[in-house]
Amino acid sequence: MNLEQRPIFCKKEEGIASIYINRPEKRNAINSEMWQQLIAVVDDCNSDSSVRVIIFRSTSPVAFSAGADISEFKTARNSPEKGEEYHQVLSDLEERLLRSDKPTIAMIQGYCLGGGLELALACDFRFSDPTGKFSIPAAKLGIIYPVRSTKLLIHLVGPSRAKEILLSGEMMDVTKALEIGLINRVYDEKELEKETYQFAKTLAGNSELAIRGMKKVIHFIMDGEGEDGLRALFEESLISEDYKQRVRSFMNRPRNN
Ligand code: COA
Repeated sequence: MNLEQRPIFCKKEEGIASIYINRPEKRNAINSEMWQQLIAVVDDCNSDSSVRVIIFRSTSPVAFSAGADISEFKTARNSPEKGEEYHQVLSDLEERLLRSDKPTIAMIQGYCLGGGLELALACDFRFSDPTGKFSIPAAKLGIIYPVRSTKLLIHLVGPSRAKEILLSGEMMDVTKALEIGLINRVYDEKELEKETYQFAKTLAGNSELAIRGMKKVIHFIMDGEGEDGLRALFEESLISEDYKQRVRSFMNRPRNN
């Protein structure tokens, strides 16, 4: 099977890793095998020093992902033990994204539902075109949404909006998603790819060390932990060649007069 026929594949170019979800006939519903493949490609990107930014995207404009593959639930999620096992895989993927030193972007077109939105929530940024449609239909399926993803959702939209989304399972358009802070940016259908990759290039051109450090600071704050553990990070940045070089470049920048 060539690369682009696989349900999950990754392409790396100029420091940007694009992770594609490719099951358009099922609206990119993600099955157990695909969750495992996502973990494997994220591990690969996290350990590849040439990768500076990770983008998740679809091969089809119809759906980023319609969520976890519900057809598996009757076998893969039919007891507390199996449910726990199933959720552990998603949790392992989210953990890798949240702890990644590299910025992550979900580039969304079409349906972004359930587990698909869970994946997008674990990314640092969510950009969409106007076709984006968002929903967490857990209450419709009789599922209790996991704690960590609920926490991420609350951090983005607040507890009241989180309840609205989780308890209703209603579908939301991009205008509402942007207004409540579920997504960061909306671009025209023709502009989304260009703008997303442009933003990724901006991130890739910034200090790797500063980005890694600030991501950790934000996650420390979100997790409610103290700042003691962060001292080493600040020290590392202050003594780094990268910091000195970037300050020097600013001081020596070309000027008009
Ligand atoms: N799991 C498994 N299969 C799914 C799926 C999912 N989450 N979402 C879509 N599919 C499959 C459908 O079963 C269908 O397969 P089939 O052609 O073999 O019957 C195919 O994808 C196309 O879906 P269909 O419903 O015909 O397309 P649509 O354009 O009319 O509707 C959705 C698209 C996304 C609105 C609709 O498929 C849907 O509601 N999916 C479930 C969303 C959901 O509850 N996600 C949460 C999972 S945790």
